[in-house]
Amino acid sequence: MDCDTIWTSATLLTMTGGAAGESVVSQGLVAAKNGRIVYVGAADAAPDLTATRVIDCEGRLLTPGLIDCHTHLVHGGSRAGEWEARLAGASYEEIARAGGGIVSTMRATREASEEQLVAASLPRLEALIADGVTTVEIKSGYGLELASERRMLRATRALGERCGVTVRTTFLGAHALPPEYAGRADEYVALVTEEMLPALAAEGLIDAVDAFCEGIGFTPAQTERVFAAARALALPVKLHAEQLSNLHGAALAARYGALSADHLEYLDDDGIAAMAASGTVATLLPGAFYFTRETKLPPVQGLRDAGVPIAIATDCNPGTSPLTSLLLAMNMAATLFRMTVAECWAGTTRNAAKALGLADVGALVPGHWADIALWDVESPAELVYRMGGRPLHARYRRGI
Ligand code: NIG
Ligand code: FE
Repeated sequence: MDCDTIWTSATLLTMTGGAAGESVVSQGLVAAKNGRIVYVGAADAAPDLTATRVIDCEGRLLTPGLIDCHTHLVHGGSRAGEWEARLAGASYEEIARAGGGIVSTMRATREASEEQLVAASLPRLEALIADGVTTVEIKSGYGLELASERRMLRATRALGERCGVTVRTTFLGAHALPPEYAGRADEYVALVTEEMLPALAAEGLIDAVDAFCEGIGFTPAQTERVFAAARALALPVKLHAEQLSNLHGAALAARYGALSADHLEYLDDDGIAAMAASGTVATLLPGAFYFTRETKLPPVQGLRDAGVPIAIATDCNPGTSPLTSLLLAMNMAATLFRMTVAECWAGTTRNAAKALGLADVGALVPGHWADIALWDVESPAELVYRMGGRPLHARYRRGI
């Protein structure tokens, strides 16, 4: 078989079998050609292979590159001061209603040039990459006006090119109401749907569309207007739903065939059933749960019972989850949400790919991109179990 790169002597975690997909192959081998996988399996069952590059993995664990399917990592400024106020007793919602929160990051982001946004965001992206991430979703939503949203999305695309990581952009114009639209939320939604979204989509800057459906965000009716505008442009949708209260956002997202509904602490049984019927992924964000000291757990058992695929992401953002480790998010999902090791792996590989609408990453399968993480550990559990450390030995994106 013709190929250009072979990884030998690895323990493979293919993510292709069983309920959560966690399949281990010892003495495994992966072969790739032009960045795509052409063989995965036991070395002694492999066809004859000739390659120009042979990588001896020396028994290490080889997995799909990790996928962080929900981040807001491009932004200006920091919210450490707001966090200190929260330590002293203020709540996230109180701070938002007093003009802080997302709007304070909006101010810092509006002031930053595209180059400054790239420079400020680079260390956050590099930290994720050092955790084996090969695909990352990054949302806009701190510009809240056309020019600043465009700058965020352009900075996001530039970061992807610079760092050798697959970046998916999500337009989150309906993230918060900018102060100049105070008391005029419906007019702001018209700006989002009639001006920002069509213009930025025409510039090729948008892969998916998201909104924050919440008491401090947008109503279900306003969210639906955003979804209808996305549908008119044939763009897939996602939703921040049921994070602080139950506005039945997940069911609304499911009606629009959403790729994912995210957060979901307040999700009810009807929402679960709607997601199961539409194949919408439940993206759980344990970093935000931890950092906001949420006590209401997302309904993991209900999602499991209904067969809703569960993804796990960092939600890397300055307000509710200043987290730049997807491995730590996996540990938190296990510890805080009682997810199994297999579920944590599915959550950052194949289910995360589904949450982004990507069919050729997230598992070791012929035809997929050779996006690979090679770890200095022997078992998948080891990576979910530890907190901190630098277990990544090497990372390959599209075979390189
Ligand atoms: O995912 N919920 C809304 N959006 C973010 C928080 C953004 C912020 O506070 O800056 C989230 O939690
Ligand atoms: Fe978020």
